[in-house]
Amino acid sequence: MEVQNDVRLDRIATGGAAIGSLESGKTVLVTGAIPGEVVDVELSEERSSVAFGTASKISTESADRVDPVCENVERGCGGCDWQHIAQQRQSALRVEVVEDCLRRIAKVKAPVSSAPALPLNGYRTTLRLGVKKGRAAYRKSKSNELLAIDTCSIADPALVALLEEPGFGKSKEVTLRVSQATGERICIVETYEGVSLPADVVVVSHDDLNHGADVFLTENVLGHDFKVSAMSFFQSRPDGAAQLAGLVNDMISPDAKGDLLDAYCGVGLFGVICGQDRSVFGVEASPSSVSDAGANYKIGDAVEASLFERWDAQKFETVIADPPRAGLKAKGVAKVIETEASEVALVSCDPASLARDAAEFAKGGYELKQVKVSDCFGQTSHVETVSLFVPR
Ligand SMILES: C[S@@+](CC[C@H](N)C(=O)[O-])C[C@H]1O[C@@H](n2cnc3c(N)ncnc32)[C@H](O)[C@@H]1O
Repeated sequence: MEVQNDVRLDRIATGGAAIGSLESGKTVLVTGAIPGEVVDVELSEERSSVAFGTASKISTESADRVDPVCENVERGCGGCDWQHIAQQRQSALRVEVVEDCLRRIAKVKAPVSSAPALPLNGYRTTLRLGVKKGRAAYRKSKSNELLAIDTCSIADPALVALLEEPGFGKSKEVTLRVSQATGERICIVETYEGVSLPADVVVVSHDDLNHGADVFLTENVLGHDFKVSAMSFFQSRPDGAAQLAGLVNDMISPDAKGDLLDAYCGVGLFGVICGQDRSVFGVEASPSSVSDAGANYKIGDAVEASLFERWDAQKFETVIADPPRAGLKAKGVAKVIETEASEVALVSCDPASLARDAAEFAKGGYELKQVKVSDCFGQTSHVETVSLFVPR
């Protein structure tokens, strides 16, 4: 493996690597490094315009470099890519990533700032895991190889307790979920064969869920109970869900009392918390989430099972949209604009998608007013944002 010595890293890339230049002048993306550092880079791939590698020796160390809290980092676990960066710097880097995407992709400028820090460890209430000889496993960094684990620093302790024993049987993948409000735990498996977990854990197969098994837990966010079925999306952590809903509430006008559209509503998180004194209408594609939102919304609110881009748009005063990683895309933005909303809060889990959507909103006559960046995914380079768009 070729090593390039003394590479100076000067900025951060979407995806979490630090960017520098090789002697040849070619751009290199380096994992395990921090902008400002000078490192030796073990090159893993070289393309015509860009190279990739990992920091193998740090010559000039950033003051923000810390020892990873999780023992699995040294073993090559691909779960967390920013364990070597202090929390404050993680937050600052997320802001830089968002500003960079907005500048490069959307060519718009708007104030971007961090939301208050959330606990860095023990937060994840849903884990998707591989299984190796009955043990929970993560993929190794930049590899398909499974690494058996018996701990995970970012997981809720009630889930970590399930990683300690090889109890997952013959499934290739499992999903673990816990409610921080009630302590209920669910394990979704491919097969029941060989599963051996504590008695309180509700074990259910994908097959049984697809045939109507009614398995759910109850989570609580800001005093509101949410029914969350085993297959329904929920934010990675309840305190993060509370933060995102709080950020949306702070951005939308307190005087707006007209109809509120909760687009990509999931189990109804934003409609419930931000629509307490107004009529809420949710649009959602997943059947189990549609059913959960129906149960979680207040009486009189409604939810439609539909792909958002195919939904028959009506007028709304406020739109909250929280699409998956790919963003709203042109069709979703066009739908939002069809509602003639006077304010749009966009929750986004990918800064490049946010920037592409911001460019579409700009074309459609909406201006980006502000972006708040949440640390929902501490120890990783994932970035979650809440943005406000209003008609120009
Ligand atoms: C990031 S989650 C947000 C859910 C919810 N707002 C929350 O905070 O819990 C995105 C949601 O969009 C749903 N979804 C994915 N693609 C969709 C589409 N094309 N139209 C409508 N809903 C979709 C998913 O099922 C998921 O519930």
